[in-house]
Amino acid sequence: MFWYPPLLILVNALLPRPTQCALLERFEDLKRNDFDFVIIGGGTAGNTVANRLTENPNHHVLVLEAGGSNANAFVSMIPNFCARTLGSAIDWNYTAQTGPVMNRVVGLPRGFVLGGTSSMNCMAYTRGTREDWDRYAHVTNDAGWSWDNIQTYVRKNERFTPPADGHDTTGEFDPSVHSFDGINSVTLSGFRHQVATRVIQASKAMGNDSEFRFVLDMNSGEHLGIGFAQSTVLNGTRSSSATSYLGPQFINRPNLHVLLHAHVTRISSEETAHNGLTFTGVELSQDSGKTLHTVTASKEVILSAGSIATPQILMNSGIGDPNTLSNLGIRTLQRLPSVGRNLSEHLVLTLGWVVTANDTDSEAARNATLAAEQLRQWNETRTGPLVDAPDLDFGWVRLPKNASIFERVKDPSPGPNTAHIEIQFLVSIFPAEFRIIIPH
Ligand SMILES: *[C@@H]1O[C@H](CO)[C@@H](O)[C@H](O)[C@H]1NC(C)=O
Ligand SMILES: *[C@@H]1O[C@H](CO)[C@@H](O)[C@H](O)[C@H]1NC(C)=O
Ligand SMILES: *[C@@H]1O[C@H](CO)[C@@H](O)[C@H](O)[C@H]1NC(C)=O
Ligand SMILES: *[C@@H]1O[C@H](CO)[C@@H](O)[C@H](O)[C@H]1NC(C)=O
Ligand SMILES: *[C@@H]1O[C@H](CO)[C@@H](O)[C@H](O)[C@H]1NC(C)=O
Ligand SMILES: *[C@@H]1O[C@H](CO)[C@@H](O)[C@H](O)[C@H]1NC(C)=O
Ligand SMILES: *[C@@H]1O[C@H](CO)[C@@H](O)[C@H](O)[C@H]1NC(C)=O
Ligand SMILES: *[C@@H]1O[C@H](CO)[C@@H](O)[C@H](O)[C@H]1NC(C)=O
Repeated sequence: MFWYPPLLILVNALLPRPTQCALLERFEDLKRNDFDFVIIGGGTAGNTVANRLTENPNHHVLVLEAGGSNANAFVSMIPNFCARTLGSAIDWNYTAQTGPVMNRVVGLPRGFVLGGTSSMNCMAYTRGTREDWDRYAHVTNDAGWSWDNIQTYVRKNERFTPPADGHDTTGEFDPSVHSFDGINSVTLSGFRHQVATRVIQASKAMGNDSEFRFVLDMNSGEHLGIGFAQSTVLNGTRSSSATSYLGPQFINRPNLHVLLHAHVTRISSEETAHNGLTFTGVELSQDSGKTLHTVTASKEVILSAGSIATPQILMNSGIGDPNTLSNLGIRTLQRLPSVGRNLSEHLVLTLGWVVTANDTDSEAARNATLAAEQLRQWNETRTGPLVDAPDLDFGWVRLPKNASIFERVKDPSPGPNTAHIEIQFLVSIFPAEFRIIIPH
């Protein structure tokens, strides 16, 4: 079912190579070893923070990324190809042993490339609800996280752009809840698939009292219902933190330094009686630990290495559960038993349907001529079925109040206007290992 056209290799070689001279490959090429800020991880968060910090020309900022450049990562660029990034050269290929509910080993995709997982995810742009954010504010006791207060940052991030086919998007989203002058592009589907259109028609026909009613904009703070997907795509190409926050207008800032293939081994620290523990810089290697380099951070070390590598680096740096650390021969500098514990993820259940539509991804999967045509169309005009991320429409629904599961489990939703279940409507092909088959 999972199929790579040989043409890909050819096209990869033919694509123009953007010159990104500010991206350094070798430690020796860094112009300095002392920085104001050192950011560990050039991923979704790290590149965003790097962009903001380097707005101040006096701040020298170094971003350390373990993977390579995103510029030639062809599977990353084409929105429709996002599933092909799984287990590819830009994936860390982590696996996880899940907990007692579903005891099995599953893939845990994480981006091993500049842009991190924003260079390999499936680009769905869903903000969460007002109730979600207001709960964050409540739990953290910090009003800054509330829906109203976070909108400033949502808008700084978002640049809503026209879809790849330039169609009139009236009635597909609510412009009043979006920003058109941020940095990361968000857009609507640029190729109308028959199935996507029928899902919307069906939801409108259900009427406004239905749990499957049409919702004009699921990013307005209230998402229940079914509506058009919004994706982080620009002109038919993935918009990641690497292409946006480190885009051409930012990457040449003289105070921004990005080192690729930089594996961080630990955060360096000093312990003095007067100041306690102070983090002073970062130790890294480009040759599997044979040579260790150190860079210093006079203001801050920012650890944004993702959900797996962040706790790993903390533990390597002596921050974690003393028992775990001593078993590994690491001296505990800061006792923090929760580091590396209690990662939670959501389950995906795939339901497959046979449809009469003739424009699903299955067509190209069984017809190499068609696949080559679609690829040529994308390459030459950035139009056609490959411009879209796999999710075409989304649905957000709740279980009924009297559902029997609530006899055993407390309702985890933050309020009555937030879904328990997210439905993704797609016409794409995903590798079998990411499908979960529920036994009868
Ligand atoms: C993940 O697996 C692919 C395919 O085997 C490989 O090319 C890639 O190097 C692996 N990623 C890492 C970080 O080792
Ligand atoms: C559902 O609500 C929308 C927005 O309030 C309205 O435009 C539409 O006519 C309603 N549809 C029905 C079937 O009542
Ligand atoms: C996107 O495409 C439009 C229309 O072709 C063009 O004007 C615009 O410059 C493109 N944007 C980028 C960032 O390439
Ligand atoms: C992790 O989860 C377990 C079981 O829910 C809980 O008992 C424990 O307190 C949690 N640990 C942390 C560090 O949150
Ligand atoms: C696909 O279906 C549409 C709508 O039914 C039809 O107009 C079109 O000719 C079909 N295309 C092919 C290649 O069969
Ligand atoms: C495969 O696709 C090509 C190009 O669209 C088309 O001409 C051909 O009829 C298709 N072949 C089959 C078996 O559907
Ligand atoms: C892709 O585009 C490049 C130019 O941008 C061209 O040289 C190459 O032949 C194209 N490949 C295909 C398969 O269309
Ligand atoms: C929940 O309530 C509805 C009517 O309000 C009823 O039809 C349904 O059987 C109830 N379900 C359960 C599991 O009690």
